[in-house]
Amino acid sequence: MSAPHVPVLLDEVIEALSPQPGDVIVDATFGAGGYTRAMLDVGATVHAFDRDPDAIAAGQNWAETQGEAPRLVLHPRRFSEMVAALSEAGVAGVDGIAMDIGVSSMQLDRADRGFAFSADGPLDMTMSRAGPTAADFLNEAPEAEIADVLWRYGEERQSRRVARAIVAARPLTTTGELAQVVRKALGYRPGAPKDPATRSFQAIRIHVNGELDELEQGLRAAEQLLTTGGRLAVVSFHSIEDRIVKRFLREAAGAAGRASRHLPDAPESHSPTFGDVSKAIRPSEAEIARNPRARSATLRSALRTAAPARVYQGEAA
Ligand SMILES: C[S@@+](CC[C@H](N)C(=O)[O-])C[C@H]1O[C@@H](n2cnc3c(N)ncnc32)[C@H](O)[C@@H]1O
Repeated sequence: MSAPHVPVLLDEVIEALSPQPGDVIVDATFGAGGYTRAMLDVGATVHAFDRDPDAIAAGQNWAETQGEAPRLVLHPRRFSEMVAALSEAGVAGVDGIAMDIGVSSMQLDRADRGFAFSADGPLDMTMSRAGPTAADFLNEAPEAEIADVLWRYGEERQSRRVARAIVAARPLTTTGELAQVVRKALGYRPGAPKDPATRSFQAIRIHVNGELDELEQGLRAAEQLLTTGGRLAVVSFHSIEDRIVKRFLREAAGAAGRASRHLPDAPESHSPTFGDVSKAIRPSEAEIARNPRARSATLRSALRTAAPARVYQGEAA
């Protein structure tokens, strides 16, 4: 398998997880398999998840040709479903879980996936190639809902102005059209350092794929699946995601928790389920120079304690 996606913070993730021969590790976001390969190399068994059928197909191909298939189990599913998926595979607990949130370079770079504003393609943006697309959302949602998505997930200060322009330009069918509408609404001059369409594309992608809900569910699933002494490592690329990870770990580690907007039904008091919570780890200058897409990455890791996983409202104990 070629590796068009350069793994971000790879050494740091492997150091945080410290996989040992015979360990069972989950790679919640397989992508091009950069983390998975490093875990297989130390002799671990890997259960890898990806909701993108293209990533799973490439991984299957690679595993078969490399003879890695016996120690690599690929799950073409969302990582929010990992408790059920592993239980179906007969796995009750795991020694480590890595999550590398967001989109891969393969998804970003292929115009036909509809994530890129720099190349013209259908307005799709679905990671799983299924379900409502970005075009469905933008052409059908009320203006106020579009503005809310741009504001919340893209931190777009002019969200109402952009939403109004989108609604006026309906129907939108391509990424190029959307990028033009956003740029025009924000008075973009070609050559300006940052394309203002970046924020809107990020917001729409996060909404279309329900990425923040997935992250929350994935973190809860990790708490359920990790055995005592098991390690969690999460790489995120936006402050919105990092805030969710940071707060989850702070609350799990038992520090005084305020009610969470993202985890409103979190239990109020519990024994710490995670300890040894790391500070934010950022890529080195050398890594950013090698791989500019690493620029905004943040890694946080923690160690699972022996305390029972928290039970959330609506979940069976
Ligand atoms: C940043 S890439 C991972 C790259 C990988 N660490 C590597 O080294 O190649 C993220 C991948 O996770 C997948 N993904 C994102 N959210 C997911 C979710 N909720 N469930 C399963 N896969 C997801 C995407 O489809 C994408 O392939």
